[in-house]
Amino acid sequence: MPDNPDRTLVLVTHPIPKNWLSPLLDHCRLEIGEGGTAGFSDMLKTMLPQTDGIISMLMDPINAGILEKAPRLKVISNYAAGLDNIDLPECTRRGIPVGHTPGILTAATADLTMALLLSAARGIKRAALDAREGRWKSWTPDGWLGHDLKDACLGIIGMGLIGSEVAARAAAFGMRIVYTSLLDNREVERRTGAKQVELDDLLAQSDFISLHVPLTADTRHMFNKSTFQKMKSNAILVNAARGPIIDMDDLAGALENGLIAAAALDVTEPEPLPPGHRLFSLPNCLIVPHIGSATFGTRQKMAVMASENLLAGLEGRPLPACANPEVYQIKSKN
Ligand code: DGY
Repeated sequence: MPDNPDRTLVLVTHPIPKNWLSPLLDHCRLEIGEGGTAGFSDMLKTMLPQTDGIISMLMDPINAGILEKAPRLKVISNYAAGLDNIDLPECTRRGIPVGHTPGILTAATADLTMALLLSAARGIKRAALDAREGRWKSWTPDGWLGHDLKDACLGIIGMGLIGSEVAARAAAFGMRIVYTSLLDNREVERRTGAKQVELDDLLAQSDFISLHVPLTADTRHMFNKSTFQKMKSNAILVNAARGPIIDMDDLAGALENGLIAAAALDVTEPEPLPPGHRLFSLPNCLIVPHIGSATFGTRQKMAVMASENLLAGLEGRPLPACANPEVYQIKSKN
């Protein structure tokens, strides 16, 4: 049946399996953008003036320029926990609540972090390539040696939901955990033995460092040449948070010059990292395409949560997971 053009219009910036969005289908007319791109397609841009709601993704900038073109907009629902693609203060100023999907992807992202950490610790990328390309001649006592997790020190930068789940997994592997965080994490300390330390201390003692902070002006390029100089030369850096927390050129230099031992990245700057980028040619750098939350169950639950946020916003109810709840105080004053 063709979509009724009079129904509430919702732009979904990129394809999401339609059955994952079934809660929305009875309520709105969905216009879906293109796959394999970032931002709004030209077709979606022409619809902004009639749009009531937007489901956006982490690679779509939502800024004053976009908001200006969408005067009817009642709600933005980001299909992500992270919000660095959205100008939140500008949305609040315009009275637009912004939904996101925290919590739901915590376990999947912590699992992927451990997969990266283990792959880097045991040199899986190089070993798999050697096996495939005929360099596996026999079992040898000193072939393909990696590093133990047990008793190694893991530094966690950012002990929020995902950092805490990584700590729980790392403790089960017998790792000693230190962390930096703005949050009070007595509960995680009790469960995992983690100790809060200053950043320089963490850099100096960690054999592995895993990043779990949001991307902000303070964390952008927090890992740069001078940070790498403070790390151990055997250190392995894991990033499943946001690419721009690490300066990519400085990282390539640190890996090439032995300032640190290895890196495993789920996120890069830019995304995607161009295929010819020098990081791809380094055997001690493993890169996967931002798959932290990519499990069947998690991505589907994210769609349900994004749909619930969107419907609440369209109906004028508070969003179940609202990133700018102050918007309601501003609204009630007006
Ligand atoms: C998020 O939701 O912010 C994640 O990066 C998606 O995997």
